[in-house]
Amino acid sequence: MALVTRVLDPEPVSALADYVAAGGGVGLTAARALAADAIVTAIKDSGLRGRGGAGFPTGRKWQTVLDNASPTQAPAVVVNAAEGEPGCFKDRSILRANPYRVIEGALIAAHTVGAGRIVIALKRTFTREHDLLVAAVAECAAAGWITGPTIEVFAGPAEYLYGEETALLEAIDGRYPFPRVTPPFRRGLDEHAIDRSGADVDTARIDDPAADAARPSAAGVELAAPDGEATGAPALVDNVETMANVPGIIANGADWFRSVGTDQSPGTIVCTVSGRTRRAGVAEFELGTPLREVIETVGGGVARGRSIKAVMVGVSTGLLTAHALDTPLTYEAFAAAGSGLGTAGFIVFDDATDLVSVGAGVSHFLAVESCGQCRPCKQDGGALADVLVKIGRSEGSDADLVTATALLDSVIDRARCNLASQQQAVIGSVLALFAGDVASHTTHGAAAVEREPIAGIKDIVDGVAILDPDEVGKQPDWSHHLVDSQQSPAERLDDPRMGHTDL
Ligand SMILES: Cc1cc2nc3c(=O)[nH]c(=O)nc-3n(C[C@H](O)[C@H](O)[C@H](O)COP(=O)(O)O)c2cc1C
Ligand code: SF4
Repeated sequence: MALVTRVLDPEPVSALADYVAAGGGVGLTAARALAADAIVTAIKDSGLRGRGGAGFPTGRKWQTVLDNASPTQAPAVVVNAAEGEPGCFKDRSILRANPYRVIEGALIAAHTVGAGRIVIALKRTFTREHDLLVAAVAECAAAGWITGPTIEVFAGPAEYLYGEETALLEAIDGRYPFPRVTPPFRRGLDEHAIDRSGADVDTARIDDPAADAARPSAAGVELAAPDGEATGAPALVDNVETMANVPGIIANGADWFRSVGTDQSPGTIVCTVSGRTRRAGVAEFELGTPLREVIETVGGGVARGRSIKAVMVGVSTGLLTAHALDTPLTYEAFAAAGSGLGTAGFIVFDDATDLVSVGAGVSHFLAVESCGQCRPCKQDGGALADVLVKIGRSEGSDADLVTATALLDSVIDRARCNLASQQQAVIGSVLALFAGDVASHTTHGAAAVEREPIAGIKDIVDGVAILDPDEVGKQPDWSHHLVDSQQSPAERLDDPRMGHTDL
């Protein structure tokens, strides 16, 4: 059994004094006696990789923020607590169990990069975590932990896209959660956006503030550039679980951190299991634990007489078939299996599941959540979702499959964030791995299936994952009106007649 407790406390820690009595705060005290370079070296040596989905090396990110310090402005540290990936409930579980560890990690990060401001950004629907964090920050302040930077708990919109790093920064800065164009693309020859009429506009004059201000999409915020040209300060954005790992590394050392896991994937990972398992839940495992063990331990397997047909890792990467259940939980093994570790939110499907229905559900979710700043992502993503519904109803033909394949190619055209690639990765893998399910509809007239409901987890109560009903009923224009306006969120919300609407 490779269950461990490093960042997910088994029992809730409800007072700072209890956390300190159990060893909390040692990392912060140690960090404050160290120079920034020594801390970054420890994080680099630990091999910690970001737990927000991409697995980016955390030490390298911190180094980049240090290297791009602004001469005029202190950087900000932002904790990404927006957790919206379908199948995931680990960040809220960590915060519910112990908000102090996450605050300690953020304070160490702020000390390292010289931040003047820490923002813990979650969704305003996460009221329980919000209240816990506000109370915990007050306790930390009263205990003298917060010397230097301010800490605020920012309650942002409920949108899935808000969790994307630059959309998060946009929202904290008072705008809609629309991803920015980031380097190196921002510094490329041609940058594209759409204006209010839907036409492509050339935004190559990116250094012109007037042109930036007139842009219909996400703000032209000055970004720190690797060549040091820009004077704007960078923001260090890290996921809740990433931050929760930091105090242990500083208190106990990189070798301690590496004492579990593998060379490329050291440490632990907090997994969520849901779907057709007997129960849903969250638990922390050593990296390297086989996926099958995680599903058995947390989910109790699938119902008697059924077997696992597929496992979907959030809605970000390729699915795994039953043959891949022994894949160890590492970034390298999941990549080799044609998938990704993502945020370790495993949605399990049994052999009674029609994967066309799952594909249609995922495609619909991503098309709805797309902001529409990049037209192919919104339009081709929506068309893809429609084709999959048609195929699921056994009203489609091989020609529709050809259309789906073409849409999978075009959906990522000029995409400024990863959401469009998620359509490609998930739906591409459904079509490739579950061709039998597809053919049962296109050539054998199988019984019609509708879209599998795909949405973020609102809560897990008594082993049952409750999907967010607001997401299930959301329109592609991000309204909850009975009829969709046919405008993309970027068009609708940027429309001056709308005024500024709270999402
Ligand atoms: C559509 C989309 C949604 C995302 N949602 C989240 C999220 O809810 N929480 C999160 O930590 N990262 C999310 N990410 C990843 C962030 O952009 C970013 O990579 C992460 O906050 C970096 O932190 P890390 O290095 O600690 O992983 C999302 C990315 C995309 C493209
Ligand atoms: S890729 Fe999609 S979600 Fe991302 S910015 Fe473009 S339209 Fe919005």
